[in-house]
Amino acid sequence: MDTLLSPGFVFLISLILFFSPCNANQTTNKCSSATYQPFIQCILANSIPHNLLYIQGTTSYSTLLEYSIRNQRFNTTSTPKPLAIITPTIESHVSTIVGCCRTNNLEARVLSGGHDYEGLSYVAFSTPFVIINMQNISSIDVNTTDNTAWVQAGATVGELYYHMAEKSKTLGFPAGLCPTVGIGGHLSGGGIGTMMRKYGLASDNIIDVRLVNVEGKILDRESMGEDLFWAIRGGGGASFGIILAYKIKLVHVPQKLTIFAKSYNLSQNGSLVKIVSQWQDVAYRLDVRLFIRQFIQVSSDNKGNRILQIKFESLFLGEKEELLSIIQEKFPLLDLQVQECQEMSWIETIQYFAGYTNGEPLSALLERKSQFGYSFKAKSDFLTSQIPEFGWKRIWYKLLRSNATVYMIIDPLGGKMDEISESETPFPYRNGSLYNIQHLVAWVDGDQSLVNTYLDWIRGFYEFMTPYVSKNPRAAYLNYRDLDLGTSLNGDLSYFERTRWGKRYFKDNFRKLALVKLEVDPKNFFRSEQSVPPLNLY
Ligand SMILES: Cc1cc2nc3c(=O)[nH]c(=O)nc-3n(C[C@H](O)[C@H](O)[C@H](O)COP(=O)(O)OP(=O)(O)OC[C@H]3O[C@@H](n4cnc5c(N)ncnc54)[C@H](O)[C@@H]3O)c2cc1C
Ligand SMILES: *[C@@H]1O[C@H](CO)[C@@H](O)[C@H](O)[C@H]1NC(C)=O
Ligand SMILES: *[C@@H]1O[C@H](CO)[C@@H](O)[C@H](O)[C@H]1NC(C)=O
Ligand SMILES: *[C@@H]1O[C@H](CO)[C@@H](O)[C@H](O)[C@H]1NC(C)=O
Ligand SMILES: *[C@@H]1O[C@H](CO)[C@@H](O)[C@H](O)[C@H]1NC(C)=O
Ligand SMILES: *[C@@H]1O[C@H](CO)[C@@H](O)[C@H](O)[C@H]1NC(C)=O
Ligand SMILES: *[C@@H]1O[C@H](CO)[C@@H](O)[C@H](O)[C@H]1NC(C)=O
Ligand SMILES: *[C@@H]1O[C@H](CO)[C@@H](O)[C@H](O)[C@H]1NC(C)=O
Ligand SMILES: *[C@@H]1O[C@H](CO)[C@@H](O)[C@H](O)[C@H]1NC(C)=O
Repeated sequence: MDTLLSPGFVFLISLILFFSPCNANQTTNKCSSATYQPFIQCILANSIPHNLLYIQGTTSYSTLLEYSIRNQRFNTTSTPKPLAIITPTIESHVSTIVGCCRTNNLEARVLSGGHDYEGLSYVAFSTPFVIINMQNISSIDVNTTDNTAWVQAGATVGELYYHMAEKSKTLGFPAGLCPTVGIGGHLSGGGIGTMMRKYGLASDNIIDVRLVNVEGKILDRESMGEDLFWAIRGGGGASFGIILAYKIKLVHVPQKLTIFAKSYNLSQNGSLVKIVSQWQDVAYRLDVRLFIRQFIQVSSDNKGNRILQIKFESLFLGEKEELLSIIQEKFPLLDLQVQECQEMSWIETIQYFAGYTNGEPLSALLERKSQFGYSFKAKSDFLTSQIPEFGWKRIWYKLLRSNATVYMIIDPLGGKMDEISESETPFPYRNGSLYNIQHLVAWVDGDQSLVNTYLDWIRGFYEFMTPYVSKNPRAAYLNYRDLDLGTSLNGDLSYFERTRWGKRYFKDNFRKLALVKLEVDPKNFFRSEQSVPPLNLY
């Protein structure tokens, strides 16, 4: 532990004075040394080792920050930077950091896996802030006696899957496909995955939690009460506290599962629209063990031609003969052949969907660095009715006329998702919602002048989709965060206007989230551009 006079402490203070971000030319972060230095002193004086503190201006700070950024759109010199990053290693560190932020009026952003689509875990756009990086609070305890696991917030879903596979071949967990996604953001915001038609969202399978509240106290399900426990299972963690760990219920998976992926393009088959329509008519009401998503990708080949590819990607919780007979009966136009199906264990399906199909070792799932190293902007929708054939054709030609790499990922709901009531958790898109859509535009070049072209394109595409998707409200999915829907930090607007985005993610559940917020954090310490502000009745 550092005392005030230890060499480590003296060294740090000189570093801080030398590199103080308050002396730098900060146009966006108005920083007063009156808050920064007392904050650092508070951290160090409260037994947080100085090697867990990264301060602006040092190389280790830049390395850690760049490593954490998952959307290169926010890896620019003009993106506001945190005053410091702290990587707590034990729970009590987190309580200390919350206390130091509060006494010094500093905003804290919590980062678990760093996949937030708008960078909210590592960028505050209009205020000085620090990052609490949870990557070193990441232990995983799998209990195969009662089929549960405690998983700390800074772990990734890939780490969770890996540790589950070490203990059992027939236990699974219904969370997302991308192994680098963090538990803290993913589970608190929902968690769509290949098994949701049988088991619901990841957040539907949470049975306990440990959380640091605004007073720095560590609460579990029992001590926090059911309302707060409700809120942090889909309402986003960042509005309510800092999630330390979740206890989850693991699910049974068979020894052998089956996967297939079948691709089409426009030139190949004139009846593509018939295939897509048949898929759309059945995918949300098939056997709950069967998940078939439609993945549309449009990009340019090396001659500059625009290529549209439609891939049906599937996971079946059973063997291939049974899969083939279901497809034969319900989705014959797919014309699925036995040699297009592969049987494998659950963890192998995880590797497959993660893109590890070339014999990579299981430990590749432990890699924290995302394979998706692009700049991107995404938006989401839900379908409550089917898109007509001419609608699909219009969509394809609209996608082909873009200049960028664009994706539409359409995941079937139904099954277990229909059985959960709209108010059981904050995620309301249950019975009546047929599909979730993710619209995404991605680019590699750092040419800032083109960024607005891409943003304009996807906003235009979203407008274009209006007639086909849910209405009143036009639904969106929190984990595909979209600041175009609005931000709560605009103090000039009324409460109602500032929180319109809330209805889009949560429908009427937004009101309960705002009530819980009023109860647990009335002064709105845990805030961001899109956090739930305490309910304001006036
Ligand atoms: C490549 C990629 C693939 C994806 N695949 C899927 C998918 O298959 N299914 C799906 O549903 N989603 C998917 N997502 C979206 C993903 O679920 C969300 O971005 C999720 O919020 C990421 O969590 P994180 O911890 O990695 O992100 P972070 O950026 O660390 O956090 C996201 C938000 O949660 C807050 N937060 C993080 N940790 C905590 C904590 N410990 N306590 C309180 N608040 C916290 C952050 O402050 C931020 O507001 C994907 C995203 C990407 C980039
Ligand atoms: C700070 O930035 C402004 C605007 O970019 C510039 O005019 C000024 O010279 C900069 N000052 C320093 C000390 O770098
Ligand atoms: C962020 O940008 C820097 C400088 O351009 C680059 O070196 C770094 O690799 C980028 N970070 C990531 C995670 O790609
Ligand atoms: C995480 O902890 C390990 C050892 O406990 C330490 O070596 C490492 O520097 C820590 N990582 C960060 C980012 O602080
Ligand atoms: C696993 O769960 C069982 C049943 O709840 C419990 O008795 C046991 O102590 C747990 N094991 C561990 C290692 O926590
Ligand atoms: C379309 O698919 C066919 C058959 O798989 C393939 O031969 C052809 O190259 C594809 N066309 C393009 C443009 O990808
Ligand atoms: C197009 O698909 C239909 C339905 O699967 C099939 O009957 C037909 O033979 C295919 N045509 C070509 C050219 O592949
Ligand atoms: C695509 O690029 C062309 C040529 O640069 C431009 O005229 C057109 O407007 C662009 N289209 C879109 C959708 O951005
Ligand atoms: C879903 O809603 C439909 C129409 O209201 C109803 O017939 C059906 O029983 C509901 N499904 C479930 C699982 O509740």
